[in-house]
Amino acid sequence: MLIAQITDLHIRADRQLAYGQVDTATALENAVAHVQALDPAPDVILFTGDIGDIGIAGEYDLVAEILAPLSSPWYMIPGNHDRRVALHRAFPRAIPAQAGGFLQYAVRDFPLHLIALDTLHEGFGHGVLCAERLTWLDRELARHPDQPTLIFMHHPPIISGINHMDGLRLLPDTNRGGTPVDEIGAAGLAAVLARHRSVVGIICGHIHRPIHCLWHGVPLCVAPSVAHQVVGDFRKNGPAAFNLEPPAILLHFWSDAMHGQGLLTHTSYIGHYDGPYPFFDKTGKLIG
Ligand SMILES: [Fe+2]
Repeated sequence: MLIAQITDLHIRADRQLAYGQVDTATALENAVAHVQALDPAPDVILFTGDIGDIGIAGEYDLVAEILAPLSSPWYMIPGNHDRRVALHRAFPRAIPAQAGGFLQYAVRDFPLHLIALDTLHEGFGHGVLCAERLTWLDRELARHPDQPTLIFMHHPPIISGINHMDGLRLLPDTNRGGTPVDEIGAAGLAAVLARHRSVVGIICGHIHRPIHCLWHGVPLCVAPSVAHQVVGDFRKNGPAAFNLEPPAILLHFWSDAMHGQGLLTHTSYIGHYDGPYPFFDKTGKLIG
C-alpha cells in the first residue's frame, strides 16, 4: 500500500500570493502533476491540513479545481488556517465526518486503517486535542485492536526545536474543559496510544519541514509543504520566517511483508532536476 501525503497548501482565493510572496496555486498544480506521474500510483492521498490560507469558500473552490485531475482517492483534515464548516462543505467526500462536529473519521478500505484526527482550535495557530476528540480516538482504536493503523493529523505532538513553531504546537485545552494536553508532548494522545498497540505511525503537517522521530514508541513524520518551508532556525529567538527550499511530498509504504521495518517513508521532491543518468554503460560496466 502506497500513501502520498500532501500538506500545507495555503491556497488563497483568485490565485493571490500567500504572504505576498508564494504562488501556492502553482505549487499545488506542480504537486498534483507530480503525484499523477507516480508509477505505481498511490493507493490513497492524504492532505494533512492548511488546505486554504484563511479558510474561505473561494480558496476551497480553487483547491477543488486544481485537485480535479487526481485519479487516486483522497482524504483531508483541517489545519489551523482552515475553517471546519467551509472546508467540510467544499469536500464532503474527502472528509467523511458528520457536519457541524470535529472533522475526524476512520477509513477502513485499505490494509492499513487510517484515522483522521482534528487538532484545529478555530481562530488560533496552536492545536488542541480535547477529551471529546481523544475519547473518540480511543474508541476507534478499541474497535480493531489488532489492525495496523496510521493516524494523520495537522499539529504534531512534538517539540520541533523551531521556537516560533513550538509556540503553535498542541497546547492545553482551555476552552472546552477537556483532558489537558501537556506542554511537552500531548500527554492525552500519548495516554490513548499507550492503551493500544495498533498504531504503526503518525503523520502530520504544520511545521513545513521534513521531521522524523519516535514519539512514545510510535514513528512520527512531519511532511514538508508543497509550497513554502519554515526556516530551520534552532536559535531561541529565531524569527518566524519562511523560504523556498524544494517543495516535497512524503510517500509512505506499508505492506504486511514489511512488518519487520514498519512504515517506510520516502521524501519525494517536486520539480525538475538534472538526470536521470545511468550508472552503467551499454556493456554493463560501471561508468567511471
Ligand atoms: Fe501551514
